[in-house]
This record gives sequence, structure tokens and C-alpha cells, in this order.
Amino acid sequence: MPMEPDSSSRASRASTAVRSAGEWLKEPPRPGAVVGPVSDARSSAITPGLLAAIFEQYTLPLLGLHGVRHWARVLEIGRRLLPLTGARADVVELFSVLHDACRHNENHDPRHGARGALLAVALCGRAFELDASGLVLLQEACARHTDGRCDADVTVQTCWDSDRLDLGRAGIRPSARKLCTMAACDPGLIAWATVRSQRDETPDLVREEWEIPESLLPGVRPRDNDQEGR
Ligand SMILES: [Fe+2]
Ligand SMILES: [Fe+2]
Repeated sequence: MPMEPDSSSRASRASTAVRSAGEWLKEPPRPGAVVGPVSDARSSAITPGLLAAIFEQYTLPLLGLHGVRHWARVLEIGRRLLPLTGARADVVELFSVLHDACRHNENHDPRHGARGALLAVALCGRAFELDASGLVLLQEACARHTDGRCDADVTVQTCWDSDRLDLGRAGIRPSARKLCTMAACDPGLIAWATVRSQRDETPDLVREEWEIPESLLPGVRPRDNDQEGR
């Protein structure tokens, strides 16, 4: 997914993130502080009905570069970031499954974020519940997620960082200079997310929360045997 160069400094963006988040972060997180197991966070925002509606209109391979594995890793990263950034959990979770849901191809598709935002509007109130202010944030997060920018509410920034930290699958190591929040710039988190992305790992939540059957996950290697990077 293309990201345009961002000329502003990391320090400036980090400062912006702290200001926009109010008092949520008194000091930078300790290196490695966000890598540990996340709490048993089950989504209340991503319903079976929402997943069914997304799958119904998704035209690309379910296990493709921008498919289910990517969505699940984005969700896991988001769940690690949001306690530190103060982002809205419901928006971050919904972003994970909607932002790439309307891609027409796995390559250059600059309007897919805008289409994802439109899908969010169409499904809000039918396949998921979200208040008006949350829907505004979700629309912005989806519509602008490929712009390579950071000027946004901290919830939107957290969505974008969750997506950018899963660039390893495309051969790109996420750069702290292009991340929006201080929490996302943690070297331990970047390394953890990059290895998982390079391996195209399938998070447990795909089966345990989304309950996607094994029959729809062909070629997925058992986690215990999945020790080799590629
Ligand atoms: Fe995307
Ligand atoms: Fe994405």
C-alpha cells in the first residue's frame, strides 16, 4: 500500500499525538512495553453480521495480501496500541476489518479507502452499532489511510499506525518517521509486528473470535510449526 513521504519530524508528530490525546500519556512508553500479551479483549464492535456483510462484497482472495490475516494483525496491533494512545476501541476495531474491505486489486487502488468509508456508512446501524462521532472518525480513518499523513485525531492516528505496522508482509519495514503515535514507535513493537507480518501469521482471533472455519483457511500452517520466516 503506497504511503507518501511525510516531511514532518518524528518529534513533531509525537508531540502532536500527545497534545491531541490530552492527558493520556504523561511520558513515552518504555521500550518493549507494548509487546507483551494483550488483555483478553474480545471485540464487541465486530459482529458476525458485520463480517458476513464484508465477506459478501469482498472480491479478492480471503487470504490475500490485504485479506483476513492482515485485518486480524491490524486488530491485534490496534489492541496493543489503544490502551497507550487513548484511542476509541470500537473505531480501531471496526477500522481493522473495513479499511481494505473494498479493494479492487492487491496493487494500486487509491480509492479503496474511500470505498471502505462508504461501506462503513452503509453498514452502520445495520451490521454494527456506532455513534455519530465514532462514525466520523471511522470514515476519516478508512478514507485517508493511504495518504501517509498523521494530522488527525488520536483514534484515527492509532488506526493508521495499526495498519502501517503490518507492512512487513509487503517487504517494507515500518519506519518510526512515518508512524503517528509515540506508542507505535516502540522498537520492540515494530520488530514484533514486522516478524509476524513477514511470516503472514494468522492470529488466533481469526478462528476464536471471528470463527472463520478451517475450510476457508487453506494452507494455513499450524502455529506450533510456523517457526520459519520467509
Ligand atoms: Fe489499504
Ligand atoms: Fe491495510
